[in-house]
Parts: sequence; structure tokens; C-alpha cells
Amino acid sequence: MTTNTPPHQITAHGGRLINRIVQGAEHERLLNKAHEMKKLPLTRRKLCDLEMLAVGAYSPLEGYMGRKNYERVVTEMHLSNGLPWSIPITFRVDKKTAESIREGQEIALTDERQNILAILHVEEKFEYDKKLAAKAVYRTDSAEHPGVDILYKRGDVLLGGQVSVLRLPENREFISYRLTPAETRAVFKTRGWKTVVGFQTRNPVHRAHEYIQKCALEIVDGLLLHPLIGETKSDDIPADVRMKCYEALLEKYYPKDRVLLSVLPAPMRYAGPREAIHHAIVRKNYGCTHFIVGRDHAGVGNFYGSFDAHHIFNEFAPGELGITPLFFDHTFYCKACGSMASIKTCPHDKAEQISLSGTKVREMLRAGTLPPPEFSRPEVAKILIEAMKGSSS
Ligand code: ADX
Repeated sequence: MTTNTPPHQITAHGGRLINRIVQGAEHERLLNKAHEMKKLPLTRRKLCDLEMLAVGAYSPLEGYMGRKNYERVVTEMHLSNGLPWSIPITFRVDKKTAESIREGQEIALTDERQNILAILHVEEKFEYDKKLAAKAVYRTDSAEHPGVDILYKRGDVLLGGQVSVLRLPENREFISYRLTPAETRAVFKTRGWKTVVGFQTRNPVHRAHEYIQKCALEIVDGLLLHPLIGETKSDDIPADVRMKCYEALLEKYYPKDRVLLSVLPAPMRYAGPREAIHHAIVRKNYGCTHFIVGRDHAGVGNFYGSFDAHHIFNEFAPGELGITPLFFDHTFYCKACGSMASIKTCPHDKAEQISLSGTKVREMLRAGTLPPPEFSRPEVAKILIEAMKGSSS
């Protein structure tokens, strides 16, 4: 339903959408200053977080966390001002680099070609306990976990402070789909969507994903299909292949005026339950009122229980997060029902379910075999088969 009056929009986390991109005369002034500063090149992962900070996707954060925020987030899932926040957003450097930087210093953050992207106003420099962070954030201290592995391998010292962004990273893919939170909000407003459900994914959309998205679409005005395209594990399907799958699927199976496809430039952390909270807060910043959390959200291997990412929402007071989670059980195609279902809606035996493991699906695609249409739309599977021909994965 649309109305003539502009719909009320959900406020950003903390009340104000942050924009750290500096423009005009101030941009010139800071850029000139930055040329004289110590320079630090950013890894791919750091470029992702910088973009998220720049456009306000991490509102209310204006930069990398200082000690108070960092410690409270790790131990209590809240910022020092009491707002919920579940994942530390940090700038890690090795000890040697840290020795050459003092608190109060400004440093220029660059891409690998030395283009100046931002200034980090270093307010704090501090050491941190990696094991404690691993156990609290990832619920494991095993280096087999991809997020923990990165934590152990990267720097021992954190630099906290605001960033002033002078230019967004170059070579950003999918520019036309790379909408900022202000831009997605503007689209929702133009389309008259009062309620919008956000869908996080790092995979091609299969029938289970489609089902839960469409169940949600039955009760809200619009769907933000918001694949994460920042750094992911090397065995995840590359974002360019996934984007082709999303386009093909939307073209044929979704109502165009009720879906917005846009990308999230964040890195994947595989932090399961903690990341589900994080994903929800970030989507609130993009203007979503609802957020889908299904089975093993942002999980990896067997590190989390299938519904741990649902239970963690109970650790927050009602309304505290300011976005409504929509929880979905394990969904599948049931031959006896003749439709997609979940154990909440299907009374039949497991033998009736068409449910394939990721490994099995990969095997089929690699062999050029289409998985059953009850598992994946053929248009999506065909794109994946083509992509696998050209890769060794
Ligand atoms: S994630 O790492 O981005 O969470 P994925 O892209 O597989 O992984 O999942 C996207 C969303 O769909 C998540 O909320 C996840 O919990 C949900 N999901 C994936 N498969 C199923 C399924 N078979 N049943 C219910 N929810 C699912």
C-alpha cells in the first residue's frame, strides 16, 4: 500500500546517520595536510570497514573503537554509551608500526597504490587480549575458525579514533548496486515503503532463501536483498557470480516494485550469533525495519548451533535494537506438502524433504548437473555451473 505523505523512516542506530566523507574546502585542506602525514596502506578487509564507516553503515561509529568501546563491546555487547553493538570495529597494527605512532597523531590511510583515502585521528593506542576477544565474539578460541584465524594473524595493537574520509576506495565493484544508507533510505521513501525487510546473504539465493524472503514480503512493504560483497572466505562463491544469480532470479521470480537489490561492502566475520546482531543493526542503518535471521546465520562449520543466532536476540531488552528480527526455522521443499515448508509448518517425515548439503550441491554443479528445481531455480544453477567451469573450486 502506498500513501501520498512521505512515510516515517526508522532512525539510524544512535539517532543520527553518520557521514564521514569530507567535501568542499575542508576536503582540500585535509588532503594537503595528509600528504605530509605518515602513511599506512590498507588491506582489502580494512578497505571494506573504511567504506562502511564512511557512509554511516556503522552509525553511530565515527571511526575505529577506542578502549572503552572495545572492551564493553567484547564483554557486554554494548558501546560505552549503552547502545547495543556486538562486533568490535578496530584498526589493528603490528607492534613495530604501533611504536612509530603516538596518541594524538594523524595518519593517512591509503590504498595499495598510495592514493590517500582517509585520515585517522589516532586518539588511543592500546593492546588487547586476543583469546578473550575470540572466546567472547566468536565463542571459540580455535584458529580453525576463519574469523579467529584472522584475529590471531593480524596486529597486536589497536588504534582508536575518528576517520575523515577523503575518497572512497577505487576499483569498487558493482557501483550501480552500491547504495549508501542515505541512498537506500531515499529509495524506500520514493517507493513509499514504510516497512522494509533486510536480507543478508553471502551465497547464491536458493529456494530456501527465496521462501523466507517471500514469507517476509507477505507482511512488509519491501525487501532489501542485501548481499555482502566485502571480503569472504576463499571457498565462498565470488560476489560477481552471485550478483549474476541475483539478477537472473529477480528478473524472473520477484515483483520488481517490491524488491531493491543493493550490496553491502562489509567483510564477513563468520561470527554466527554476534554477527546476526551486527547484521541487523547495520541493516537498520540502511533503513530496514525488519531483518531475517534463519538457520545458522553467519555461521561456519559446526561452530554454532543452528538457532544460536535466534537466541542471542533474547540477550537484549525488548525494542533495544530498534529493528524487528524475523526468525525462520530450517526450511526445505517437502514432496508431501508439494511446497516449501519448515518444521513449523510441515507434518511429514524427513524422507519427504528435498534438502541437499553444500558439498553435494557443489559436486553436482561441478559435474554440470542441475540440482532439482525444488532446491535451486535452474536460472541460478546454470550461472553457477558456467562459473565452476572456469574455476578450480
Ligand atoms: S549467511 O552467512 O549470510 O548468513 P547464507 O547466505 O547461507 O549465509 O544465509 C542467508 C540467510 O538465510 C541467513 O539468515 C540464514 O540463516 C538463512 N538460511 C539459509 N539457508 C536456510 C534454510 N535452509 N532454512 C532457513 N534459513 C536459511
